[in-house]
Amino acid sequence: MTDDVLLVHGGTPLEGEIRVRGAKNLVPKAMVAALLGSGPSRLRNVPDIRDVRVVRGLLQLHGVTVGPGDEAGELVLDPSHVESANVADIDAHAGSSRIPILFCGPLLHRLGHAFIPGLGGCEIGGRPIDFHFEVLRQFGAVIEKRPEGQYLEAPQRLRGCKVRLPYPSVGATEQVLLTAVLAEGVTELANAAVEPEIEDLICVLQKMGAIISMDTDRTIRITGVDRLGGYNHRALPDRLESASWASAALATKGNVYVRGASQREMMTFLNTYRKVGGAFDIDEQGIRFWHPGGDLSAIALETDVHPGFQTDWQQPLVVALTQASGLSIVHETVYESRLGFTSALNQMGAHIQLYRECLGGTPCRFGQRNFLHSAVVSGPTKLQGADLVIPDLRGGFSYLIAALAAEGTSHVHGIDLINRGYENFMEKLRALGANVELPAQATATA
Ligand code: EPZ
Repeated sequence: MTDDVLLVHGGTPLEGEIRVRGAKNLVPKAMVAALLGSGPSRLRNVPDIRDVRVVRGLLQLHGVTVGPGDEAGELVLDPSHVESANVADIDAHAGSSRIPILFCGPLLHRLGHAFIPGLGGCEIGGRPIDFHFEVLRQFGAVIEKRPEGQYLEAPQRLRGCKVRLPYPSVGATEQVLLTAVLAEGVTELANAAVEPEIEDLICVLQKMGAIISMDTDRTIRITGVDRLGGYNHRALPDRLESASWASAALATKGNVYVRGASQREMMTFLNTYRKVGGAFDIDEQGIRFWHPGGDLSAIALETDVHPGFQTDWQQPLVVALTQASGLSIVHETVYESRLGFTSALNQMGAHIQLYRECLGGTPCRFGQRNFLHSAVVSGPTKLQGADLVIPDLRGGFSYLIAALAAEGTSHVHGIDLINRGYENFMEKLRALGANVELPAQATATA
């Protein structure tokens, strides 16, 4: 059992204001993109989270200088002296992140070779990277698998190609973007991911001098150029963190203003939030989320690629659904094992049944296969405090919400993992009046 435990005394509605900054799923990728430039780049609205620190370390290992800018949350990245890095250092730095895979294209362009250690990431499915290597081979990269990782070579300049992804993978789309912009000729990517973070990465690359068009049918065309400059960019707000705090407000019967939250990237979430019975109010600086009183309504929820319901919104909202009247149906179609976290909610008193069938929606890749990827949530149920061990980032935040909504005290183990994607979450919990304490504080006050 890890020692980073948080004591959560439940039953207090979250009330107040917090601020979210740039998206965890864009900022590290924009930092990697700086490697492609012949001059320095400026990235603003950068959150202080572990994934950013991991990428900063990997960039510095490759000779990129990364320093603070003029304003808080600003980074200046200078790739003028890119150099090879030691394999063992890369391995040590990469730790539990998946981002190193996106260094391939930029390093192949800058150095003609790249090394990718074994990757980490949240255990919410097999998370293969076969699409990534398939597209890199099509650009002309030579890949050699060794026990310590994958070695990649570009014997000559990478060439544009025609690619169709078997599934609109965010990571594989980013891989193509970060490789095609300096490749020779035109690349056509069909069945691409079009998440807001992808669009923001395209904005970053266009600022550097890239030529990229997005068609309506998930086709992205990139005309390779010989040289890219630096960029000056403000990262889009984190719609995943914003939605997590919105779900926390609903499950705890609270009222939370999320400064920095933006309607445009959250339209699907806001529709679902309203269907469940949550209330929100949008202004220029952010969105207020609250529980308007009365019963919440059960819904049928199906996750999907953008503009569908984002899979990373699912786990925090499921906690709120345990408080809704009736039977909610959840069909997780993006990851095959992203409902395992519900067993701990059942220990707390929830009634959640898992199924292998594609419930309530369209058949997906996981139907007829041995994956418990659908759930029936019957509510409302009282939640009682419990001992919880955090399984992954969003599952972890959903445990915090459940513990805050529960009666009694919960011990939430492994909270350090939440630092990977939620900036200053302890301060934010306190700012919202949450009754939480770290064991050290508990003994001191006892
Ligand atoms: C990104 O992961 C995000 N992570 C995830 O957020 C997010 O859930 C996911 O996109 C989907 O929106 C980051 O941006 C760092 P994918 P990524 O490639 O790129 C399959 C969070 O909590 N697939 O779109 O790894 C894969 O197994 C995290 O913030 C292959 O089969 O996701 C999955 O079922 C969790 N082969 C599906 O595609 C491949 O080569 C979607 O994966 C690649 C993907």
